[in-house]
Amino acid sequence: SKNGIFAGKKILITSGPTQEAIDPVRFISNHSSGKMGAAIADAFADKGGEVYLVLGVGAKKPSNPNIKIYPVKSARDMYQSASNLHSQMDICVFAAAVADYAPKDIASEKIKKEGEGMTLDLVKNVDIALSLGKLKKPHQIHIGFALETENEEFNAKAKLTKKNFDMIVLNSMKDTGAGFQLDTNKVSLFFEDGRSLISNVLPKKQIAELILEGIKNIPVKI
Ligand code: PMT
Repeated sequence: SKNGIFAGKKILITSGPTQEAIDPVRFISNHSSGKMGAAIADAFADKGGEVYLVLGVGAKKPSNPNIKIYPVKSARDMYQSASNLHSQMDICVFAAAVADYAPKDIASEKIKKEGEGMTLDLVKNVDIALSLGKLKKPHQIHIGFALETENEEFNAKAKLTKKNFDMIVLNSMKDTGAGFQLDTNKVSLFFEDGRSLISNVLPKKQIAELILEGIKNIPVKI
């Protein structure tokens, strides 16, 4: 729709898992289904936003046909797509579950089953949100996620500051109905100005609406 509160705004969303190849048949990944990112993408597009969705393999696709989709595999691919788009964007939402480490070398042939054990050498991946956070302009808004299993609020607030987010969405694996795969989530929103808001367990569609409401209240610095 040409109308709606996000009309004229360009929105980048990362969603889904990354896949880090070990050899031609194996990879390291995680449980992200892309449901949270798809719900956010649809919520923006339904309110007139121009949405650019950088999407991991197998991640759920949104319903709104106006959304532009950029399929990626690895964290490096996701970083490349996201950074190509970044300077044009007004709002960026980092909902993807990005692998923090990747195999140092990708074996060109299938690794043979030899010996009783094996060791994989891993190297740190680029942190997409952190890198783009360093390029954030005053008119841009960055929203991050934190997926935690312990010291949730402390860790989320640390990521809010470190990655230069305006708001972070904490979901805890300890909360029933929250996190990967489910159609529901339970989140705490922490804002850069110190405000916070805690949700009930709600469908991811409604969580997405809450996040958009939160964004409307972030003052844009011009
Ligand atoms: O996809 P679903 O099955 O619906 O599940 C949704 C979800 C649980 C994946 C989602 O709600 C969520 O929490 N996404 C972020 C998961 C995550 O990797 O969080 P993190 O705490 O490790 O990362 C913090 C932030 O930095 C995130 O915004 C993440 O996208 C970003 N990041 C992390 C590492 C990295 N190399 N690059 C990044 O951009």
